[in-house]
Formats: sequence, C-alpha cells, structure tokens
Amino acid sequence: MDLHSRRQEARKGGGEERQAKQHAKGKLSARERIEILVDDDSFQELGMFVRHQATSFGLEKNRPYGDGVITGYGAIHGRLVYVFSQDFTVFGGSLGQAHARKIVNIMDLAMQNGAPLIGLNDSGGARIQEGVVSLGGYADIFLRNTLASGVIPQISAVMGPCAGGAVYSPAITDFIFMVRNTSHMFVTGPNVVKTVTHEDVTLEELGGAETHASRSGVAHMACNGDAECLMKIRELLNYLPQNCEEPATDIATAEAPENASAVLDEIIPDNPNKPYPMHSLIEQIIDGGDFFEIHEEFAANMIVGFARLGGQSIGIVANNPEVLAGVLDIDTSIKGARFVRFCDAFNIPLVVFEDVPGFMPGTEQEWNGIIRNGAKLLYAFCEATVPKITVITRKAYGGAYDVMNSKHIRGDLNFAWPKAEIAVMGPQGAVEIIFKRQIKEAENPDDLKDEFISEYRDNLANPYVAAEYGYIDDVIEPHETRDKLIAGLSMLRNKVARNPHKKHGNIPL
Ligand code: HXC
Repeated sequence: MDLHSRRQEARKGGGEERQAKQHAKGKLSARERIEILVDDDSFQELGMFVRHQATSFGLEKNRPYGDGVITGYGAIHGRLVYVFSQDFTVFGGSLGQAHARKIVNIMDLAMQNGAPLIGLNDSGGARIQEGVVSLGGYADIFLRNTLASGVIPQISAVMGPCAGGAVYSPAITDFIFMVRNTSHMFVTGPNVVKTVTHEDVTLEELGGAETHASRSGVAHMACNGDAECLMKIRELLNYLPQNCEEPATDIATAEAPENASAVLDEIIPDNPNKPYPMHSLIEQIIDGGDFFEIHEEFAANMIVGFARLGGQSIGIVANNPEVLAGVLDIDTSIKGARFVRFCDAFNIPLVVFEDVPGFMPGTEQEWNGIIRNGAKLLYAFCEATVPKITVITRKAYGGAYDVMNSKHIRGDLNFAWPKAEIAVMGPQGAVEIIFKRQIKEAENPDDLKDEFISEYRDNLANPYVAAEYGYIDDVIEPHETRDKLIAGLSMLRNKVARNPHKKHGNIPL
C-alpha cells in the first residue's frame, strides 16, 4: 500500500458504519472535533501510522492505524497547543499500550515546549484485551498530568464515555468540559451501583454533564453539543498564558457598557438584607461586559471566572448575594480555592468582589468539614502571590472578611464602597450578644434592640473604621471602581512576591 492509501485508511478510523453510529448519537468524529478546536489548517498529526503490537484475544488480526487516538499539535488564536482526540470508532476509543504511548508523547512535547494540552476524551476505558498493560498506560498519563499541573494549562473535554480509573486523568487537569446527554463520567456505572448500593440511577443522573456541572462540581462547564464545547475551550484559552513562566496576553476589547456608572451607583439596595445581581455588577465593570464564567451551576453562592480589565486577563472571585446571601460553605470554598490556585499558578491577577455575611452555620456543614474545607479558600488566598485586589461592595463579616483576600493576607489593594459593612458580625447578632441583659430587662425590648442596632451600624458596621486602620486603602464611589482597578492592576504589573522556600505546602485537603 502506498502512502496515500495508508493515509486514507488511517483517516477512516473504525469505518463508515461506526462513524455513522457516532454521528447518530449526536457526536462528531475525533477528526471533526480537532478541526473545530484548532485554527484552520494548523493541525499537524503525529503517530498516524502507530499500531498496537498486542496478540491476545485475536487483536493481532485487527490492527487499525492510529490505534484509536489522534494526536498532534496545532494553533488556537495563533498560539501553539497540543491535542489528543480519542476515536470511539476504533475499539471504543479504549486505551491500550500504543494508544497510551501516543498520548504520553504529546504530553512530553507539551511540557518540554511549554504549551497547553487539550484532551478530547471519548473512550470505553482500559482496553480489556490488553489487560494490565492498559492500566500501566493510564498510570503513565496520570503521572504526567500531575507533573504538568501548574506548569502548562491542561484542559479536558469529556465527549463520550469516561469510566472507571480513566476519569482520573481529566480530574487532575485544570478544567473539565462536558457535553449534555452524550458525555458521562463515573467510577462505576449504573449496574454496579445497583448491585452494591441497591440504588436505581440512570446513566445521565449518575454521571451526565448536568450532574457533574451542578451537583458534584467535577465538570466546570456543561455544553450543548460538541461544537459549542470546542468553541468554549477556544474562548477559555484566550485568557490563559502558554505556561507558568509567561503572563497571559493583553487583548484590547471594548470599554465597559455605556451607562455603567449610573447602574453601579444604584445597584446596592438601601435594605442591607436585599439581594442584588452580582453578575450585572461584574459586567458593568469589566471590558466589554464579557465574563467567562467557570462552574456557573455549581456552588452558585460564589461566582468565579475570567474577564479583562484594560485589556489584561484577570480572574474574578465574587460572593453572590442572590444565592444563600453569598454565604461561604464547603462547596464555595472548594470552588473558590481551586480557581484562586489556578490563577496564581498561571500569573493571572485576582480581583475580588466581596459581599459575604460569613460562613454557613449548621450540623451538615460542620460534620462535613466546613473547618477543613473553608481553610482551603483561606490557604489559597494566603498563598497566592499574583496581584490581588478586593472591592468590598457591601458585607464583610467575621472570618469571611479575613478570608476574602483581605490586606492582612497579602491583598495588595482593598477598596470599599460607601455602604460597606465591615465588622465581627452583623448588627442583629452582635447586639443580641453584647446587649443581651439590657434588652431582656427593657420595658420595650424591640425598641431598645433597634436603637442598639442603629448605633452599632453607625459606629462599627461601616467602611471607615477599617479605613482608619489602613485595612481599606480607599472608600470609593461604585462608578469609580473600573478606573481604580485598571490603575491598580497597572501599578501591580511588575509585582514580585515569593513564598518561603519549601518542598511544597500542605493545603488542608
Ligand atoms: C476494548 C472496548 C472497550 C474496552 C468498548 N469497546 N469498550 N474494547 N476495551 N474497554 C469496544 C466494543 O467491543 C465495541 O467494539 C466498541 O468498542 C463500541 O462499544 P459498544 O459497547 O458497542 O458501544 P456502546 O453501546 O456505545 O457502549 C459504550 C460503553 C461500553 C458504555 C463504553 O462499550 C462499555 O461499557 N465498555 C466497557 C467499559 C468499561 O468497563 N471499561 C473498563 C473501565 S475500568 P466493536 O468492534 O463492536 O465496534 C478502566 C480502568 C482504568 O478503564 C484504569 C485506570 C486506573
């Protein structure tokens, strides 16, 4: 067979019938996915003619070119990326020795050349016929995922099955994108679940995109269809640098929305217990109102995502007063901590919008470890050495004030809006403790309580006490925020801060 025929043979994958089946499920083929993901004509395939050497269970009679995975490099927005795309039409995309070696090869290249790695997963897992060699192949990948963590961005799209131990490669990477209805991740499938725990659960409920994007937090984004998923990955890469030694590229975009000032000055309600839309607040401040949200459906009492300010890529962490009053709980702490650590690893400055009533009370939270999990967020902010700016839009109470990037834990600049309340606890709780006896003995306890609350608010729950101590660098009008942030980020551009030398820290996992 000549080169041309061999190439044609390789491009067929598992053959027309299986490709048609793939399409009938609403999935694109492994090659179609790469075409959408990378810039036109930029993909350079490596290992097209790799075939397995296995001889058991009749495998020696079936040796398709490529061995079920397409690997290579290309460009996204003109910048180098490495890609592997599993081909479900060849042995169900299952991973044997040759398949694993191809992935390992591009992982090594990505590390040596300092460029992001994108894995498109669509696989029945370890190739059963190849036995332990397949397990070894996975371990080779897990090791490289771990060593590459924090060195190059690693992004996983799960676009079909991803079962058993195979889930742990995406799990170690920085971001997991899933596709609604066609992608599934689980350690054990519905049948095993039924046998072991007697639970009846569908594939979709157990490990579909919606489940992982909203309940478990395993997925960072659930997409509608393969094409949307791949376009979202392209969009994400816009905000990221190539590796941990580089800054993200500045991209000049539009200014903030036109009537942003007026909207911002009106956004905080007079009633401190009334929620307001934090997403709109963010969009009024950032370039072009373009916010790339991560984990939108998971732990929605905190908002995290990427944006630009004055063209510079930033990571935003914000409390969301519209969900559980923006309280910090276990899931938000984990979500926030992971995002903060990603930004810090890849030199992306952090901007925090704070409106937090404190940590979530209750046995459910205490028994599931709000102490060790809340500590993750605190640790992540403490450890981060990128430029860090906080804007307290309203509440900053208790330990949550310290945690949310206060100056005490190396926040570089902290601003507060005029209606900010910064104190040990909210007025209601505070007066019930410190004036308990007086209120109990009063003729009109409710009136006296209201008096104390108003006194507390005037004296303690405002931004000026913190500003007097220098814990707040400036109290600013909401409409001044964008300019203050852009000036601050520019001033902090060359910031150098280092943590003490160590092997590695011991974040409370
Ligand atoms: C070899 C496999 C395979 C596997 C699928 N195929 N999984 N071949 N090893 N693990 C092959 C099938 O034989 C079939 O070949 C083709 O892929 C398509 O499979 P179907 O079953 O027809 O497709 P579908 O009905 O869509 O079901 C897909 C599936 C199912 C849900 C993925 O195939 C399945 O349950 N596979 C096994 C999953 C599994 O248990 N894997 C091991 C997990 S443990 P033909 O020739 O007919 O097209 C694991 C350990 C990881 O992975 C180790 C890390 C520590």
